[in-house]
Amino acid sequence: MDRKIAVLTSGGDAPGLNAAIRAVVRAAYHYEYKVLGVKRGYKGLIEKDFCYLNPRDVGLIINRGGTILLTSREPRFKEYEYRKKAIENLKEEGVEALFVIGGNGSFQAANLLVKEFNFPVIGIPKTIDNDTYGTDYTIGFDTAVNNAVDAIDKIRDTTMSHERVFVVEVMGRDSGFIALEAGIASGADVILIPEYPFPMHVIVDTVIKSRERGKRFSIIVVAEGVASAKDVAQVLEEKLKPYDFGGVRYSVLGYIQRGGSPTAYDRNMASRFGVFAVEEYKKGNKNFMVAYEKGEVVSKPLDVSFGKIKKPDLKEFELGNILSL
Ligand code: F6P
Repeated sequence: MDRKIAVLTSGGDAPGLNAAIRAVVRAAYHYEYKVLGVKRGYKGLIEKDFCYLNPRDVGLIINRGGTILLTSREPRFKEYEYRKKAIENLKEEGVEALFVIGGNGSFQAANLLVKEFNFPVIGIPKTIDNDTYGTDYTIGFDTAVNNAVDAIDKIRDTTMSHERVFVVEVMGRDSGFIALEAGIASGADVILIPEYPFPMHVIVDTVIKSRERGKRFSIIVVAEGVASAKDVAQVLEEKLKPYDFGGVRYSVLGYIQRGGSPTAYDRNMASRFGVFAVEEYKKGNKNFMVAYEKGEVVSKPLDVSFGKIKKPDLKEFELGNILSL
Protein backbone atom coordinates (compact mmCIF):
# COMPACT_ATOMS: atom_id res chain seq x y z
CA MET A 1 0.00 0.00 0.00
CA ASP A 2 2.11 2.89 -1.26
CA ARG A 3 -0.60 5.34 -2.20
CA LYS A 4 -1.84 7.82 0.38
CA ILE A 5 -4.76 10.18 0.69
CA ALA A 6 -5.57 12.67 3.46
CA VAL A 7 -8.91 13.52 5.05
CA LEU A 8 -10.02 16.48 7.18
CA THR A 9 -13.20 17.99 8.58
CA SER A 10 -13.57 21.77 8.35
CA GLY A 11 -16.07 24.45 9.42
CA GLY A 12 -18.95 23.91 11.84
CA ASP A 13 -19.38 20.34 13.05
CA ALA A 14 -22.40 18.34 11.92
CA PRO A 15 -23.74 14.97 13.05
CA GLY A 16 -22.50 12.31 10.65
CA LEU A 17 -18.95 13.64 10.23
CA ASN A 18 -17.56 10.58 12.00
CA ALA A 19 -19.57 8.26 9.78
CA ALA A 20 -18.08 10.08 6.77
CA ILE A 21 -14.51 9.81 8.10
CA ARG A 22 -15.09 6.10 8.76
CA ALA A 23 -16.41 5.60 5.24
CA VAL A 24 -13.45 7.38 3.62
CA VAL A 25 -10.93 5.42 5.71
CA ARG A 26 -12.52 2.02 5.16
CA ALA A 27 -13.14 2.54 1.46
CA ALA A 28 -9.57 3.78 1.07
CA TYR A 29 -8.17 0.65 2.72
CA HIS A 30 -10.51 -1.48 0.65
CA TYR A 31 -8.93 0.03 -2.47
CA GLU A 32 -5.43 -0.05 -0.97
CA TYR A 33 -4.74 3.53 -0.03
CA LYS A 34 -3.35 4.60 3.33
CA VAL A 35 -5.15 7.46 5.06
CA LEU A 36 -3.64 10.42 6.83
CA GLY A 37 -6.07 12.17 9.19
CA VAL A 38 -5.56 15.92 9.48
CA LYS A 39 -6.52 17.46 12.83
CA ARG A 40 -8.58 20.66 13.16
CA GLY A 41 -9.19 21.17 9.44
CA TYR A 42 -6.89 23.54 7.57
CA LYS A 43 -5.17 24.47 10.84
CA GLY A 44 -3.76 20.95 11.03
CA LEU A 45 -2.62 21.13 7.41
CA ILE A 46 -0.58 24.24 8.18
CA GLU A 47 0.77 22.90 11.48
CA LYS A 48 1.36 19.36 10.23
CA ASP A 49 -0.94 17.94 12.87
CA PHE A 50 -1.42 14.53 11.31
CA CYS A 51 -2.35 11.04 12.47
CA TYR A 52 -2.60 7.87 10.44
CA LEU A 53 -6.02 6.24 10.49
CA ASN A 54 -6.59 2.57 9.82
CA PRO A 55 -9.94 0.76 9.66
CA ARG A 56 -9.77 -0.12 13.38
CA ASP A 57 -9.14 3.51 14.37
CA VAL A 58 -12.55 4.43 12.96
CA GLY A 59 -14.42 1.67 14.79
CA LEU A 60 -17.10 2.67 17.31
CA ILE A 61 -17.57 6.16 15.84
CA ILE A 62 -20.45 5.74 13.38
CA ASN A 63 -22.94 6.62 16.12
CA ARG A 64 -21.00 9.56 17.58
CA GLY A 65 -21.70 13.25 16.95
CA GLY A 66 -18.93 15.82 16.48
CA THR A 67 -15.73 14.83 14.70
CA ILE A 68 -12.85 12.70 15.98
CA LEU A 69 -10.55 14.76 13.75
CA LEU A 70 -11.72 18.01 15.38
CA THR A 71 -12.58 21.03 13.25
CA SER A 72 -11.92 24.75 12.95
CA ARG A 73 -12.33 27.77 10.75
CA GLU A 74 -8.73 28.73 9.97
CA PRO A 75 -8.27 32.40 8.95
CA ARG A 76 -4.60 31.88 8.00
CA PHE A 77 -5.69 29.73 5.08
CA LYS A 78 -6.76 32.94 3.31
CA GLU A 79 -3.07 33.73 2.88
CA TYR A 80 -1.07 32.19 0.05
CA GLU A 81 2.04 31.47 2.14
CA TYR A 82 0.04 29.24 4.54
CA ARG A 83 -1.61 27.37 1.69
CA LYS A 84 1.84 26.78 0.24
CA LYS A 85 3.00 25.44 3.61
CA ALA A 86 -0.04 23.14 3.74
CA ILE A 87 0.78 21.66 0.35
CA GLU A 88 4.45 21.21 1.28
CA ASN A 89 3.36 19.34 4.40
CA LEU A 90 1.07 17.04 2.42
CA LYS A 91 3.74 16.36 -0.18
CA GLU A 92 6.34 15.61 2.50
CA GLU A 93 4.01 12.87 3.76
CA GLY A 94 3.58 11.54 0.24
CA VAL A 95 -0.14 12.37 0.12
CA GLU A 96 -1.58 12.44 -3.41
CA ALA A 97 -5.09 13.86 -2.75
CA LEU A 98 -7.03 15.68 -0.05
CA PHE A 99 -10.59 14.75 0.95
CA VAL A 100 -12.34 17.71 2.56
CA ILE A 101 -15.52 17.02 4.51
CA GLY A 102 -16.87 20.55 4.70
CA GLY A 103 -19.26 23.23 3.54
CA ASN A 104 -19.15 25.89 0.90
CA GLY A 105 -16.39 27.94 2.59
CA SER A 106 -14.19 24.88 3.02
CA PHE A 107 -14.67 23.94 -0.65
CA GLN A 108 -13.65 27.44 -1.74
CA ALA A 109 -10.45 27.12 0.27
CA ALA A 110 -9.86 23.63 -1.17
CA ASN A 111 -10.36 24.93 -4.69
CA LEU A 112 -7.43 27.31 -4.20
CA LEU A 113 -5.20 24.27 -3.65
CA VAL A 114 -6.32 22.96 -7.03
CA LYS A 115 -5.87 26.30 -8.80
CA GLU A 116 -2.54 27.32 -7.24
CA PHE A 117 -0.77 23.99 -6.80
CA ASN A 118 -2.69 21.62 -9.03
CA PHE A 119 -3.24 19.46 -5.96
CA PRO A 120 -6.20 17.05 -6.28
CA VAL A 121 -9.08 17.76 -3.92
CA ILE A 122 -12.39 16.00 -3.29
CA GLY A 123 -15.26 17.65 -1.38
CA ILE A 124 -17.84 15.81 0.72
CA PRO A 125 -20.69 18.18 1.66
CA LYS A 126 -21.83 18.62 5.25
CA THR A 127 -23.74 21.33 7.06
CA ILE A 128 -26.80 21.09 9.25
CA ASP A 129 -28.18 24.05 7.23
CA ASN A 130 -28.44 21.95 4.02
CA ASP A 131 -27.82 25.13 2.02
CA THR A 132 -24.96 24.00 -0.24
CA TYR A 133 -25.94 24.64 -3.84
CA GLY A 134 -25.52 21.71 -6.23
CA THR A 135 -26.54 18.97 -3.82
CA ASP A 136 -30.00 18.10 -2.52
CA TYR A 137 -28.49 16.88 0.75
CA THR A 138 -25.67 17.73 3.11
CA ILE A 139 -24.55 15.50 5.99
CA GLY A 140 -26.04 16.53 9.34
CA PHE A 141 -29.30 18.06 8.16
CA ASP A 142 -31.59 15.16 9.03
CA THR A 143 -30.23 14.92 12.57
CA ALA A 144 -30.56 18.68 13.11
CA VAL A 145 -34.18 18.58 11.93
CA ASN A 146 -34.94 15.64 14.21
CA ASN A 147 -33.26 17.38 17.14
CA ALA A 148 -35.38 20.48 16.51
CA VAL A 149 -38.58 18.45 16.18
CA ASP A 150 -37.83 16.62 19.41
CA ALA A 151 -37.42 19.95 21.23
CA ILE A 152 -40.52 21.52 19.66
CA ASP A 153 -42.58 18.47 20.66
CA LYS A 154 -41.60 19.16 24.26
CA ILE A 155 -42.26 22.87 23.97
CA ARG A 156 -45.71 22.07 22.58
CA ASP A 157 -46.76 20.48 25.90
CA THR A 158 -46.29 23.76 27.78
CA THR A 159 -47.65 25.86 24.93
CA MET A 160 -50.80 23.76 24.74
CA SER A 161 -51.32 23.60 28.51
CA HIS A 162 -51.05 27.37 28.94
CA GLU A 163 -52.74 28.17 25.61
CA ARG A 164 -49.82 30.37 24.68
CA VAL A 165 -48.15 31.69 21.59
CA PHE A 166 -44.62 30.27 21.36
CA VAL A 167 -41.78 31.39 19.12
CA VAL A 168 -39.02 28.83 18.56
CA GLU A 169 -35.78 29.91 16.91
CA VAL A 170 -33.89 27.25 15.01
CA MET A 171 -30.47 27.38 13.30
CA GLY A 172 -29.95 28.42 9.72
CA ARG A 173 -27.53 31.29 9.33
CA ASP A 174 -28.76 32.32 5.91
CA SER A 175 -31.27 29.64 5.15
CA GLY A 176 -34.60 28.19 6.17
CA PHE A 177 -34.24 24.47 5.45
CA ILE A 178 -34.17 23.43 9.12
CA ALA A 179 -37.03 25.78 10.03
CA LEU A 180 -39.15 24.56 7.13
CA GLU A 181 -38.69 20.83 7.64
CA ALA A 182 -38.83 20.99 11.45
CA GLY A 183 -41.83 23.34 11.23
CA ILE A 184 -43.78 21.01 8.94
CA ALA A 185 -42.90 17.95 11.04
CA SER A 186 -43.93 19.61 14.28
CA GLY A 187 -47.14 21.17 12.95
CA ALA A 188 -46.07 24.80 13.32
CA ASP A 189 -48.69 27.47 12.65
CA VAL A 190 -46.20 29.84 11.06
CA ILE A 191 -42.78 29.08 9.58
CA LEU A 192 -40.53 32.06 9.05
CA ILE A 193 -37.64 31.56 6.63
CA PRO A 194 -35.40 34.07 4.86
CA GLU A 195 -36.12 32.72 1.37
CA TYR A 196 -39.89 33.42 1.48
CA PRO A 197 -40.41 36.27 3.95
CA PHE A 198 -43.72 37.13 5.63
CA PRO A 199 -44.46 40.66 6.87
CA MET A 200 -45.13 40.86 10.61
CA HIS A 201 -48.80 41.81 10.21
CA VAL A 202 -49.41 38.51 8.36
CA ILE A 203 -47.97 36.59 11.31
CA VAL A 204 -50.17 38.48 13.76
CA ASP A 205 -53.21 37.90 11.53
CA THR A 206 -52.43 34.19 11.22
CA VAL A 207 -52.34 33.81 15.01
CA ILE A 208 -55.57 35.76 15.51
CA LYS A 209 -57.37 33.84 12.75
CA SER A 210 -56.24 30.48 14.08
CA ARG A 211 -57.74 31.36 17.49
CA GLU A 212 -60.95 32.37 15.77
CA ARG A 213 -61.00 28.95 14.13
CA GLY A 214 -60.77 27.35 17.57
CA LYS A 215 -57.04 26.72 17.93
CA ARG A 216 -56.01 27.30 21.54
CA PHE A 217 -52.25 27.69 21.08
CA SER A 218 -49.80 28.67 18.38
CA ILE A 219 -46.27 27.66 17.52
CA ILE A 220 -44.13 29.85 15.32
CA VAL A 221 -40.82 28.49 14.05
CA VAL A 222 -38.31 31.12 12.96
CA ALA A 223 -34.96 30.56 11.24
CA GLU A 224 -32.16 32.53 12.89
CA GLY A 225 -31.46 34.11 9.49
CA VAL A 226 -34.82 35.93 9.62
CA ALA A 227 -34.88 37.42 13.12
CA SER A 228 -34.27 36.46 16.71
CA ALA A 229 -37.08 34.66 18.52
CA LYS A 230 -36.85 37.35 21.19
CA ASP A 231 -37.60 40.15 18.71
CA VAL A 232 -40.47 38.27 17.09
CA ALA A 233 -41.93 37.45 20.51
CA GLN A 234 -41.67 41.09 21.63
CA VAL A 235 -43.60 42.35 18.60
CA LEU A 236 -46.23 39.64 19.00
CA GLU A 237 -46.65 40.37 22.71
CA GLU A 238 -47.35 43.99 21.87
CA LYS A 239 -49.75 43.29 19.00
CA LEU A 240 -51.64 40.54 20.81
CA LYS A 241 -52.15 42.53 24.02
CA PRO A 242 -55.86 43.14 23.33
CA TYR A 243 -56.47 39.37 23.17
CA ASP A 244 -56.57 36.81 25.95
CA PHE A 245 -53.92 34.49 24.45
CA GLY A 246 -52.11 33.17 27.55
CA GLY A 247 -49.00 35.20 26.76
CA VAL A 248 -46.09 34.88 24.37
CA ARG A 249 -42.92 32.94 25.15
CA TYR A 250 -39.83 32.09 23.14
CA SER A 251 -36.94 29.61 23.07
CA VAL A 252 -33.69 29.54 21.12
CA LEU A 253 -32.80 25.91 20.38
CA GLY A 254 -29.19 26.73 19.47
CA TYR A 255 -26.43 24.17 19.49
CA ILE A 256 -28.47 21.21 20.71
CA GLN A 257 -29.50 20.96 17.06
CA ARG A 258 -25.92 20.37 15.96
CA GLY A 259 -24.99 17.70 18.47
CA GLY A 260 -25.86 14.17 19.44
CA SER A 261 -25.91 10.84 17.73
CA PRO A 262 -26.59 11.08 13.98
CA THR A 263 -29.83 9.61 12.65
CA ALA A 264 -29.70 6.42 10.59
CA TYR A 265 -30.30 8.59 7.52
CA ASP A 266 -27.25 10.75 8.23
CA ARG A 267 -25.08 7.73 8.99
CA ASN A 268 -26.09 6.10 5.73
CA MET A 269 -25.74 9.23 3.61
CA ALA A 270 -22.31 9.90 5.12
CA SER A 271 -21.34 6.29 4.40
CA ARG A 272 -22.51 6.54 0.79
CA PHE A 273 -20.82 9.90 0.22
CA GLY A 274 -17.51 8.69 1.70
CA VAL A 275 -17.34 5.46 -0.27
CA PHE A 276 -18.44 7.18 -3.49
CA ALA A 277 -15.75 9.86 -3.05
CA VAL A 278 -12.98 7.26 -2.79
CA GLU A 279 -14.33 5.13 -5.64
CA GLU A 280 -14.61 8.12 -7.99
CA TYR A 281 -11.10 9.21 -7.11
CA LYS A 282 -9.81 5.72 -7.78
CA LYS A 283 -11.44 5.84 -11.22
CA GLY A 284 -9.42 8.99 -11.99
CA ASN A 285 -11.97 11.66 -11.14
CA LYS A 286 -10.57 14.55 -9.10
CA ASN A 287 -11.41 18.11 -8.07
CA PHE A 288 -15.04 17.23 -7.63
CA MET A 289 -17.70 17.53 -4.97
CA VAL A 290 -19.90 14.61 -4.02
CA ALA A 291 -23.54 15.59 -4.51
CA TYR A 292 -26.96 14.04 -4.01
CA GLU A 293 -29.31 14.65 -6.91
CA LYS A 294 -32.73 13.15 -7.52
CA GLY A 295 -31.97 10.22 -5.22
CA GLU A 296 -28.52 9.46 -6.64
CA VAL A 297 -25.02 10.12 -5.40
CA VAL A 298 -23.13 11.89 -8.20
CA SER A 299 -20.01 14.00 -8.70
CA LYS A 300 -20.01 17.68 -9.64
CA PRO A 301 -17.20 20.20 -10.26
CA LEU A 302 -15.84 21.44 -6.95
CA ASP A 303 -16.78 25.04 -7.77
CA VAL A 304 -20.42 24.28 -8.66
CA SER A 305 -21.74 25.81 -5.44
CA PHE A 306 -19.64 28.98 -5.42
CA GLY A 307 -21.65 32.19 -5.44
CA LYS A 308 -24.95 30.31 -5.79
CA ILE A 309 -27.86 30.22 -3.40
CA LYS A 310 -29.85 27.07 -2.78
CA LYS A 311 -33.48 27.74 -1.91
CA PRO A 312 -36.06 25.42 -0.41
CA ASP A 313 -38.77 24.37 -2.83
CA LEU A 314 -41.66 26.85 -2.87
CA LYS A 315 -44.07 23.89 -2.88
CA GLU A 316 -42.61 22.70 0.42
CA PHE A 317 -43.15 26.16 1.88
CA GLU A 318 -46.74 26.21 0.64
CA LEU A 319 -47.28 22.76 2.16
CA GLY A 320 -46.38 24.17 5.58
CA ASN A 321 -48.91 26.97 5.12
CA ILE A 322 -51.70 24.67 3.95
CA LEU A 323 -51.22 22.34 6.90
CA SER A 324 -51.23 25.12 9.47
CA LEU A 325 -55.00 25.67 9.09
O1 F6P B 1 -23.82 26.58 9.36
C1 F6P B 1 -24.21 25.82 10.42
C2 F6P B 1 -24.50 26.69 11.62
O2 F6P B 1 -24.89 25.86 12.67
C3 F6P B 1 -25.51 27.80 11.38
O3 F6P B 1 -26.82 27.36 11.38
C4 F6P B 1 -25.14 28.74 12.50
O4 F6P B 1 -25.55 30.05 12.27
C5 F6P B 1 -23.67 28.65 12.50
O5 F6P B 1 -23.33 27.37 12.02
C6 F6P B 1 -23.02 28.90 13.84
O6 F6P B 1 -21.69 28.51 13.76
P1 F6P B 1 -20.56 28.73 14.85
O7 F6P B 1 -21.20 29.22 16.10
O8 F6P B 1 -19.89 27.41 15.00
O9 F6P B 1 -19.65 29.75 14.28
